[in-house]
Amino acid sequence: MSDVPDIKDLFEPKSIAIVGASGNPDKIGYKILENVVVSGFNGKIFPVNPKGGDILGLKTYVTIEEINEEIDIACIVIPSQLVYDSVLSCAKKKVKFLVIITSGFSEVGNHELEAKIVAVAKENNMRILGPNIFGIYSSRGHINATFGQKDILPGSVAIITQSGALGIAMMGKTKTANMGLSAMVSIGNKSDIDETDLLEYLMHCEDTKVIMMYIEGIKRGNRLAGILKQVTRKKPVIVIKAGKSKRGALAAASHTGSLAGADEVFSDIMRQCGAIRAESVEEAFDWCNFFANSKIPNGENTVIITNGGGIGVMAADACEKFNVSLMDDIDTMKRIFSNAVPSFGSLKNPIDITGQATISDYEKALDAANNEDKISSVICLGCETAVLDADKLPIIIENIMQKAKKPFVFSFIGGVKFDECIVQLKKKNIPITNDVYEAASCFGAMSANYRNIHKRTDNYSDIKAIDKQMDFEKIERIVSKVKSENRNFLLANEASQVMEAGKISMPKSKIAKNTEEAVEYAGSIGYPVVMKIVSKDIIHKSDAGGVIVGVKNSDEVYSAYGKIIDNCKNYKADAVISGIEIAEMLRPGVESIVGARKDKALGPVVMFGLGGVYVEIMKDVSFRSFPFDRQEALELVKETKTHMLLEGARGEKKKDIDVVTDMILKLGLIVEKVAVISDIEINPLRVYDEGEGAKAIDVRILLNGA
Ligand code: COA
Repeated sequence: MSDVPDIKDLFEPKSIAIVGASGNPDKIGYKILENVVVSGFNGKIFPVNPKGGDILGLKTYVTIEEINEEIDIACIVIPSQLVYDSVLSCAKKKVKFLVIITSGFSEVGNHELEAKIVAVAKENNMRILGPNIFGIYSSRGHINATFGQKDILPGSVAIITQSGALGIAMMGKTKTANMGLSAMVSIGNKSDIDETDLLEYLMHCEDTKVIMMYIEGIKRGNRLAGILKQVTRKKPVIVIKAGKSKRGALAAASHTGSLAGADEVFSDIMRQCGAIRAESVEEAFDWCNFFANSKIPNGENTVIITNGGGIGVMAADACEKFNVSLMDDIDTMKRIFSNAVPSFGSLKNPIDITGQATISDYEKALDAANNEDKISSVICLGCETAVLDADKLPIIIENIMQKAKKPFVFSFIGGVKFDECIVQLKKKNIPITNDVYEAASCFGAMSANYRNIHKRTDNYSDIKAIDKQMDFEKIERIVSKVKSENRNFLLANEASQVMEAGKISMPKSKIAKNTEEAVEYAGSIGYPVVMKIVSKDIIHKSDAGGVIVGVKNSDEVYSAYGKIIDNCKNYKADAVISGIEIAEMLRPGVESIVGARKDKALGPVVMFGLGGVYVEIMKDVSFRSFPFDRQEALELVKETKTHMLLEGARGEKKKDIDVVTDMILKLGLIVEKVAVISDIEINPLRVYDEGEGAKAIDVRILLNGA
């Protein structure tokens, strides 16, 4: 068995020492001790303070070593310059977890001190939460070891937060939002424990129905993706990430790098892993409350019931915006709602029970929807009218919620009485609002979660089969030769060899060292040909004027040769030119781009989108964290507009999407398996009609350090 403590002991400790506990009510060391005491923690509490005595009626120890019992958590609340010595004492005492509240480490550039503490903890099998955190609350452990609010409502939402101040504010907000917490963990600098460790525990924690994460930066993205894929199969994970709109956070030696604005990649990867990204704290809270209290849908057939046509249309629009599928089985809707809808109402979705609808008409319609298995969820809307008795509204809503077999959400618009009704029902955790968009947004999150659970395949046998076709030993040989020549960039012929080893089809080509060879090769390949510069110093060939297409005869070969050399010398006078590639001129097809790169924070990331020279202007690209299966590769393709071209736009034939997904998986495998390759990119990948394959026209491969 490993000596590394089980993360369960962090959430369900049997004992806690508070190092820096203080008798001064203004100090954080006092607040934390007080919160632990009043939270009803039934384990042992050991305040530690050099002054000894007692604090809040508890015997206070002068040093941690003095305590004669096992300590699961040492919560450290002393100034940063004292923390290292205290951690050494905790190591002697064989403490399992250090919850380091103290600020003044890597967040202010003090990396060295943080690294020293992490090293001692590692050597002594201690795990660190923090530093720079406000602590941890766990309803299962009956412990509130934070300096946030005292009276936390226990419940089924777990929050992991990287921001301290926002985290404490969110703790306060749970009270006004009537949202019960199963856990609240501040992760601060994430020097050791990060969101992935916590998710591993929360995934199995029966008290937790939904998880909210506030993230600022990612350190182990690949591990996060792996864990998220598992967690989101069991419970919804809602993510709020700060730092939107920042582009180009990733290094930009290739299109894949420069297009990968960290935020877009993060969003795509979250979606891939089934996590649902909220735009704001407000939205995240709405979703959490909804998930915590709602039934689980059995499908994607939502019905809207309304007494007003306008609000019904607004809700239908909102459903489209949030990707909520509305039921279109007219026969079923006619059958079940005809009793509740007058002849001048509508039995098409939205079901319009009309402005004359009374409370009992609503009751009939809601019951009918609840009892019909083909309906998976219900949006119930209402506008205030003289015939709709607002006093009775809460009763019928509560009634239906008590017997609900599926998710319901309510949106009612009107005067004071309606607003009071909303406030009253919200207190009972009924999902009701006066904004149809808010209601539809909850269903959007629910639908995304449903699709993740039921449609994500994670069938990795696909990749294994593709892996077998590829010759990785050969790829390793090619790149080590390049490395031995102190280059971080493969020349065209070397990249072609990698493609050959990866069974990726390329146009016929040869590298000419002079005009005579160029003419000879063009003749053997067959006119027309494409001519491209081969130089280790020129990555963006077109930008350098290093590519000429449609060269039709030997005279044109002569002139193109000279022109390319001149252009490239003008572009970069000291560029070393190894020759000019003479390549088969391919027939037209759809030009796409496929790229893969190893990102420091996110691990292997694969990109697909619209190819050609305008990729960075069009930015029609999407990303995924590798590994993923063929189904996910297809989802990646479908997320782009290029997909419409591949499906056969304007009467054209459908293109070979299977081969495209093959290429996507192949490039993912290359960056994942070949340690020294940092970037690989095919642009354009010219895709032909279904069954006719695709050809990698230009390939760029970069090695670590490029
Ligand atoms: N072991 C135990 N207790 C010790 C100690 C030791 N080695 N050395 C000092 N102490 C005691 C002090 O005597 C003091 O107790 P007292 O009030 O009885 O005198 C107590 O620990 C706290 O030390 P003090 O020097 O008064 O520090 P402080 O309370 O002013 O500040 C921190 C300590 C940790 C709160 C502060 O350094 C800090 O980091 N603040 C920011 C916290 C934060 O914002 N975290 C992130 C939130 S998101």
